[in-house]
Amino acid sequence: MTERTFSIIKPDATEKNLTGAVNAVIEAAGLRIVAQKRIKMSRAQAEKFYEVHSARPFFGELVEFMTRAPVVVQVLEGDNAVARYREVMGATNPADAAEGTIRKLYADSVGENSVHGSDSLDNARIEIAQFFTDDEIVG
Ligand code: CMP
Repeated sequence: MTERTFSIIKPDATEKNLTGAVNAVIEAAGLRIVAQKRIKMSRAQAEKFYEVHSARPFFGELVEFMTRAPVVVQVLEGDNAVARYREVMGATNPADAAEGTIRKLYADSVGENSVHGSDSLDNARIEIAQFFTDDEIVG
């Protein structure tokens, strides 16, 4: 089934000028980038986006990280896009990520893990709506 998922290229990756390298892995995996913009996430945006993790000990660090440099927010489209992108990203902790995945290739640590991808179709819809209007997505 054709799906859309939400992706963020995180500050550790944009700082290292890896936007194009990450996008090359995404496209080689058969996912189409149907919307994309580079933004500086505000503290309010980061706190809202990661609200589900607000009780975690790493929440403060996570918000600091996500707001320290620009990110690239994206909508990816393709067959089973939610699960496919999670495969392409690799495990949350780069130390556990499979060969060829974005996190294995580029990420340094569980905190600074280069990319985010939605964990379900419902969350994909919610996350896309936080950053994109319908007319910004051109499939
Ligand atoms: P993400 O998929 O964006 O969703 C939640 C994020 O929290 C996750 O990626 C990691 O970047 C971050 N995270 C998860 N576990 C830890 C941890 N133990 N320490 C710091 N950050 C973490």
